[in-house]
Amino acid sequence: MNKTLNGAFGVCGAGTMGSGIAYAAAMAGYTVRLFDITQEAVERGVKTVNKFLASGIERGKITQEIADAAVARLQPTTSLEQFSDCAVVVEAIVERMEVKKNLFTQLAAIVRPDCILASNTSSLPITELANGIPNPERVVGMHFFNPAHIMKLVEVIEGFQTSPTVMDATVALSSELGKTPVRAKDTPGFIVNRVARNFYGESFRIVGEGAATHDQIDRCMKAIGFKMGPFELMDLIGIDVNFAVTQSVYDLYFNEARFRPHLIQRKMVESGLLGKKSGKGFY
Ligand code: NAI
Repeated sequence: MNKTLNGAFGVCGAGTMGSGIAYAAAMAGYTVRLFDITQEAVERGVKTVNKFLASGIERGKITQEIADAAVARLQPTTSLEQFSDCAVVVEAIVERMEVKKNLFTQLAAIVRPDCILASNTSSLPITELANGIPNPERVVGMHFFNPAHIMKLVEVIEGFQTSPTVMDATVALSSELGKTPVRAKDTPGFIVNRVARNFYGESFRIVGEGAATHDQIDRCMKAIGFKMGPFELMDLIGIDVNFAVTQSVYDLYFNEARFRPHLIQRKMVESGLLGKKSGKGFY
């Protein structure tokens, strides 16, 4: 079957998001190279993908045969050199501009010049990320949502230098992964995270004032139809990741008050209470 992109699908970062993206790409028929800095982290990522596949079988969504074929296409590695045949690399590493830039610079020396370099960043400017990377027109945002193996939405973000060809290919690729792409401009928080800042921010202010507890707020939001309340969602996302996004959007909007982070967020992170991934968060 003809694929949108001719080559392997690279994923950097085998954590919460990287494992979901690797799953989607392997299920779509791509050879997936899954990279992380330690063997332990890569193995954890592979284990997570296997868990998604097992759950798919259990729920009757996929057959053992399909799962086996996806596993066979998944190639874990701790060496970026393995990425030379990639047609696209999606990075889902730590939310820090200099670390992501450094990764793209290393990748640019390995991959072919037309390899799409996509970032799953929640909040960092794609335009800045592309600055200084050879062939910056192939740098694009590909923002998946958590849990990435289930959530359909992908924001495809056009940096200042992103070419229309790369935008079109990334939109087509997202559809091929079974996702629903939406084109977004490179503004802070893009679309969903900008709307969501108020969902979290106002909830923190309510808790800070002692007007309601976090579980009361979650219960209220669910009672009016939300799937999850803000605090449950932060536990799922990672309180550190959510805090980093809040800080970034606040900075990028020149310290606009409505985006201001809350002290409770900082205290949770300082305590190592990061949510689901650390075993304890708001719950
Ligand atoms: P995570 O902490 O679960 O995983 C990050 C992984 O990247 C770790 O396995 C870590 O070892 C690895 N890593 C760190 N530095 C690296 C480097 N220099 N090279 C290669 N690997 C490196 O983080 P998560 O939640 O998966 O987030 C990753 C990215 O996805 C961030 O940019 C985040 O903003 C974005 N994102 C996160 C969402 C979420 O709900 N957690 C939702 C959408 C986007």
